[in-house]
Amino acid sequence: MKYSVKRITVAICAVVLLITFTACGNSQKSVDKKSAETSTDLKQIDTNTDSKPLVVYFSRGINTMREKNVDAVTGASLKANGDGFYSDEQVIAEWVAEEVNGDLFAIKTEKKYPIEYDEILEVGKQERVKDERPALSSRIENLNEYQTIYFVYPNWWGDLPMPVYSFFDAYDLSGKKIVAIIISGGGGFAGTISTIRNLEPKAEVVEGVEIYKKDMENEKEKIKDKKLKHYFRETNTP
Ligand SMILES: Cc1cc2nc3c(=O)[nH]c(=O)nc-3n(C[C@H](O)[C@H](O)[C@H](O)COP(=O)(O)O)c2cc1C
Repeated sequence: MKYSVKRITVAICAVVLLITFTACGNSQKSVDKKSAETSTDLKQIDTNTDSKPLVVYFSRGINTMREKNVDAVTGASLKANGDGFYSDEQVIAEWVAEEVNGDLFAIKTEKKYPIEYDEILEVGKQERVKDERPALSSRIENLNEYQTIYFVYPNWWGDLPMPVYSFFDAYDLSGKKIVAIIISGGGGFAGTISTIRNLEPKAEVVEGVEIYKKDMENEKEKIKDKKLKHYFRETNTP
């Protein structure tokens, strides 16, 4: 009798211990699950910091000084805009920013370019021959907030305008996605995609859209059709 009471006591203790361990095990599992959930949340937070793409553009319009008493502009497609001008690259950059819900950044140069088209053609040619890097007067302060950069630029002499070289010299875009969007008189991307790849070897450079100056009226539709936003979504898919 004495023995069986002891056995019963031992058995009860064993059951209690078993229940306790099982409960502990379960609670550990739920902690593990919670930490797994937390790390998923963190991952999401990480990708969400890249909440917007950046639309960078170079435009001769924004870098042209408006001279006094100049009302009419002979330079093709340069339109008066307050104290300055805007040109097609800026119009396109604004369309793209609207399409992808991006922030806009204009590459500005310290020097100002001529209004007249023939003159800027020559200035652009000379800069290229001399391999110049015109000094920039605008700067991106929060580049690390952006993972995807839509890059709007014109074809100048089958190449990037030299201030765009200055831009790529100034920033390290390693690990970022650059979606190239070019406007040209007919030459399209020419060699600019491989040039950007050489200048930013650790970035992913994709051919976005080729815009043709003569078709400007219809090009907004082209930008919509290209579904540019998917490049940003691709980058942000965990
Ligand atoms: C300096 C300079 C060089 C250019 N070179 C070319 C060229 O080689 N091929 C081309 O298709 N268009 C060329 N263009 C035309 C530009 O690509 C055109 O101006 C651009 O599409 C944007 O138009 P906008 O700046 O006149 O508004 C050149 C324009 C400039 C100002």
